[in-house]
Amino acid sequence: MLLHSASQLLTIAGPPQRGRDLGRLGIINDGAVLIRDGLIAAIGTTAELRQAYPHEETLDAAGHVVMPGFVDPHTHLLWVGDRAAEFEMRLEGKTYLEILAAGGSILSTVRLTRQASLQELLDETRPRLRDMLAHGTTTAEAKTGYGLHTETELRMLQALLLLDAEGPLELAPTFLGAHAIPPEYKDDPDGYTTHLCTEMLPAVRRWWVEHLPTRPLPFVDVFCETGAFSLDQSRRILEAAKSLGFPLKVHADEFDNLGGASLAAELGAVSADHLVKTSPADIAALARTETVAVALPCTPFGLAERAYTPAQAILEAGGLLALATDLNPGTAWGGNMQFAIALACRYMRLTPAQAIVAATLNAAAAIQRLATVGSLETGKQADLLILNVADYRHLGYRFGTNLVQAVIKRGKVIDMDRIK
Ligand code: NIG
Ligand code: FE
Repeated sequence: MLLHSASQLLTIAGPPQRGRDLGRLGIINDGAVLIRDGLIAAIGTTAELRQAYPHEETLDAAGHVVMPGFVDPHTHLLWVGDRAAEFEMRLEGKTYLEILAAGGSILSTVRLTRQASLQELLDETRPRLRDMLAHGTTTAEAKTGYGLHTETELRMLQALLLLDAEGPLELAPTFLGAHAIPPEYKDDPDGYTTHLCTEMLPAVRRWWVEHLPTRPLPFVDVFCETGAFSLDQSRRILEAAKSLGFPLKVHADEFDNLGGASLAAELGAVSADHLVKTSPADIAALARTETVAVALPCTPFGLAERAYTPAQAILEAGGLLALATDLNPGTAWGGNMQFAIALACRYMRLTPAQAIVAATLNAAAAIQRLATVGSLETGKQADLLILNVADYRHLGYRFGTNLVQAVIKRGKVIDMDRIK
């Protein structure tokens, strides 16, 4: 299929964009893409590709921006139930960490998720995946972390793999057994940390190797935060995961600065995420590495907080910045990357071009999927969006509406009416 006449074709080609280099969209005006067998076979102007491939089936994108599908590199999209009552409590003055300390927040969702069957987990999650896809996300990272014991954590991993296989949204799974201290270990967080290192991580590895011998191991993530895992506990878990061969991620500095970002940099984590209370020294440490700084602007927005990730400082230091939604039932129930972009433009002062690269190419780097997604380049998957606007700057500028007119995943135009 030859998709042609795009007003602006955003290729976003090349390596991830660091620091002040962020924002190179590689625009081809009157652009065209040749799609074959689900992959991008050629890219150029409409005139070039029409001449080279005169007999191809065509799709006219005149008047539309065409760009890579969004990659959402940080979500907790798999859960059951809701926390509407806690939202109300927070508006009445309780903080997220106070509710967590009282056995709510993450632990409320853990109680419900432990009781849920695999089928219930899948059924409650599918509409969220559909919504993400409709808003242009074609690949997303997805975490466990509402089980906090081996059995439910493995059921969550299994659910994520089933949903990934179902498609069309492609999922990159993460084991987040270190999301909170479970009730059984309420007074013994070090005991749970030991249990994670010596029992759970090896069990996940065994399960994975047995069921998916050819697939790379999932990420292992830790919530390094007051009331969750201390810097020391986070280090123990991440070092154990690293020695088992897992690639690493870290939730760092969402509420308090414990030093999680520097730990991520030191251990060569694939990403450090949240980074709201991150210090200049932590930013400098991150910027010296390949660790991607993932900003989640829907989270402070969702919590009605004022502080956002200091993106300008990260870019000034030469860091690699990506954007994600954090979709979860507590802090940010929203999986719309267009909204994350709109917030990033206002509260992190990114330009639309910078935010778009952070939400595609750099986001693919944050989940180690650069070989297949994140840009429109020959040989990558044909994961494309056709926007209902002719100028890319409408992304960011507009919000509360969906600018995605059509989604193409692995070369197939998605019929949203047929998705459950
Ligand atoms: O990224 N901070 C930890 N995890 C999520 C919240 C998850 C939840 O509240 O259920 C976050 O904000
Ligand atoms: Fe998170």
